[in-house]
Amino acid sequence: MSYSFTFDDIPDLTGKVAIVTGGSSGIGEVISRELARKNAKVYITTRSQSRADQAIARIRAASAEVEGVENNLTFLEVDLETMKGATAAAKFFLKLEDRLDIVVANAGLGGIKSQLTPDGYERNFAVNHLGHFAFLTTLLPLIERTAAANPKSDVRIVIQSSQSFYNASKIDYQDLTKTYSSSWGFLTLREMLGRYARSKLANIYFMRELAKRTNDIPNLYVNASHPGLVYTNIFDLSTSPLPRYMQIIGEYQAWLFGIPVDDGAKTALFLASDKRVIKDGLKRIFLYPAPQGPLGGYVYFNGVYPRALNSLGEDGDEASKLWEFSEQALAKALNS
Ligand SMILES: NC(=O)c1ccc[n+]([C@@H]2O[C@H](COP(=O)([O-])OP(=O)(O)OC[C@H]3O[C@@H](n4cnc5c(N)ncnc54)[C@H](OP(=O)(O)O)[C@@H]3O)[C@@H](O)[C@H]2O)c1
Repeated sequence: MSYSFTFDDIPDLTGKVAIVTGGSSGIGEVISRELARKNAKVYITTRSQSRADQAIARIRAASAEVEGVENNLTFLEVDLETMKGATAAAKFFLKLEDRLDIVVANAGLGGIKSQLTPDGYERNFAVNHLGHFAFLTTLLPLIERTAAANPKSDVRIVIQSSQSFYNASKIDYQDLTKTYSSSWGFLTLREMLGRYARSKLANIYFMRELAKRTNDIPNLYVNASHPGLVYTNIFDLSTSPLPRYMQIIGEYQAWLFGIPVDDGAKTALFLASDKRVIKDGLKRIFLYPAPQGPLGGYVYFNGVYPRALNSLGEDGDEASKLWEFSEQALAKALNS
């Protein structure tokens, strides 16, 4: 089944509190803008106050018809690179608000360097999964309280994954703490894509396990999305050692074959707000934009549809194993 979807389908969200991680640019900025335009109180998370200020200024400039939209937007400093930092940011938020209705776990990175974070994990995996695990599990009691206190309302968690997860191999836990030894200090294309794909598979497992563990909460909807191929800062190769012409090819394939960033925000926005999620009981799904075009891109946006996972994505034992690994990693990080 597919659903048509435009920003006009987003209902009025007055009274709801939302967090959009990585709301300072690209897809997260559009998600933040549209939720704020519908009167949600939106916390934009980023590592930098100035990037939040710039995003809020852009949203204000693009929203002349919604007076005071900037009053619905608040900066929340979150660095997902360490689990301790992500936990501290979530604890700070818990002091600010007594409800949390919508979380879009959207922040993410790729990267060409072989790097471990201060916690000792490969960086894609650490930021895209472990940081979000620490942040969201710390917020979870508040999310659950919000759902319980407002049984006629609905609460949403959306994990931004990627079509890349279909290319991932089974998670090799030994590999997560290794750096690669290429003498020039950068990953090969295969290594780079493999690491990103693994982190996005982790997003799928996290979504499925979180949904399973909160399954007894009828009005909590936990799902994952793929935005489509969208030309954003995530394709910035300017710090890579590649010759300039190769950087341009790499960056502009998304520009050439991608969908506009506004369309890239629609899968997550549908899951975060649309009433049809409740009507059709959409839980534990992976939402895709349609239709697919060349090279994984999209000729135009034509709605959203739940896409089947592959057998690796469906593997419940692997999802549970990742949860247990993440819990242990979090405990270790908090005790260090
Ligand atoms: N663009 C695509 O074609 C595409 C395709 C599939 C999936 N996705 C996914 O969509 C999501 C958004 O990506 P985008 O394309 O919009 O990229 P983007 O414009 O580069 O935005 C990435 C966001 O993540 C935040 N971020 C990066 N590292 C962080 C860290 N260590 N701690 C906290 N926040 C961090 C950035 O915030 P600050 O730098 O301001 O802190 C920024 O707001 C990602 O999860 C990505 O994997 C994108």
